[in-house]
Amino acid sequence: MNDFIYSYPTKVYFGRNAAEKALQAEAGGMGSRVMLAYGGGSVKATGIYDQMVKLLTEAGKTIVEFPGIMSNPTYAKVQEGAALAKQERVDYILAVGGGSVIDCCKIVAAQAKTEEDIWEMEFVHHKLPADSLPMGAIVTASGTGAEMNGGAVITHEEKKIKTGVLGQAPRFAVLDPAYTLSVPPMQVLSGAFDTLSYAMETYLGQSSQDNVSDDVALAIMRNTVVNMRRLNQSINDIQARGNLMWDSAMAENGILKIGRLTDFQAHQIEHQLGAYTDCNHGQGLAVIHPAYYRHIVKDAEEKFTRFAQVVFGKETAEEGIEALAAFIQECGLPTKLGQLHSQVEITPELLRQVADSCNLIQTGPRPLTHDEVYDILMECM
Ligand code: NZQ
Repeated sequence: MNDFIYSYPTKVYFGRNAAEKALQAEAGGMGSRVMLAYGGGSVKATGIYDQMVKLLTEAGKTIVEFPGIMSNPTYAKVQEGAALAKQERVDYILAVGGGSVIDCCKIVAAQAKTEEDIWEMEFVHHKLPADSLPMGAIVTASGTGAEMNGGAVITHEEKKIKTGVLGQAPRFAVLDPAYTLSVPPMQVLSGAFDTLSYAMETYLGQSSQDNVSDDVALAIMRNTVVNMRRLNQSINDIQARGNLMWDSAMAENGILKIGRLTDFQAHQIEHQLGAYTDCNHGQGLAVIHPAYYRHIVKDAEEKFTRFAQVVFGKETAEEGIEALAAFIQECGLPTKLGQLHSQVEITPELLRQVADSCNLIQTGPRPLTHDEVYDILMECM
């Protein structure tokens, strides 16, 4: 194990009526003016919005609405939210949605506390925000685990970069599996594949032998596959949804990263693909993973062999990667770039730009070159 310091800032309320329990317990520490942030309208269709308004009103809060946070949230949307939070003297942010809403709010919270531009602060001056508005997260679509970490994935449209920006983790998170029952099946499975990807990417980073983080990661992968299969049989299986909700939080709450380095090369490729196409994150990962792993299998053969045996019950590293590819197909997730919902046509020229602007990870099985990223993307055509 590498050296580490561990503490956790997010209190989790899991299960039935968790939102009610959480808001009753947390309201006292929220101040009086609460920003209610959400996405494109699902919260209104499901009644979750009405429930939040009722709970906040009963707690005597003044509500400041911040609607319309899009999937793959943009930096412009972050700035809009921060300006609103400053103008309305918001004390607390309540993010109600999936990873996109929660991530956007993390950076709104940081930008609301400084006049310095957060993007410049982090990427030009290499400083982290010193302060943030406090926030809570009500998860309505699981998979990203965004509710239990301080990282946010934001798309800077002018710069054509989708990348991780650091804010602060939510103070509390509500995980009620019933809230996810209205999520369309394809989004449920895409979200769950993001969880699987996160655990695989953490596991494949450089680590000491026989460390417990690797074993926990393998358990999360296995459990995610088991429960995705259950949902494939019966999409409204509430137990499986709950299991996946906690798998997601466990994959991305930092526990798997303890004492080790990580890979995340597939995420980096997908993020740049997302910056150019606005494709769905989990679906982009489903397309990229098998091609990436076929490229690096010899650089981490032992790890891939364990992965094959523990997660898919196969013998060899190569068989494990092919089992992963077959599993993606079994779930009905996209296997080719042409199956992604893209805002633009995906051409070799576009993929060249994606590859050339992709961040190259140094702590995975082997650092790739931009040309290799291009080859991997071309294999996904
Ligand atoms: O916008 P609304 O109308 O709410 O619809 C959303 C959206 O269309 C819908 N939805 C959410 N809850 C629903 C629902 N529909 C019906 N019923 C409900 N209860 O689901 C759609 C997708 O939502 P979104 O939040 O975009 O998806 P997801 O949770 O997969 O988040 C994706 C974003 O998270 C980032 C991704 O890169 C992407 O930008 N990630 C964040 C991570 C983190 N912070 O740790 C790690 C992840 O790997 C990931 O990179």
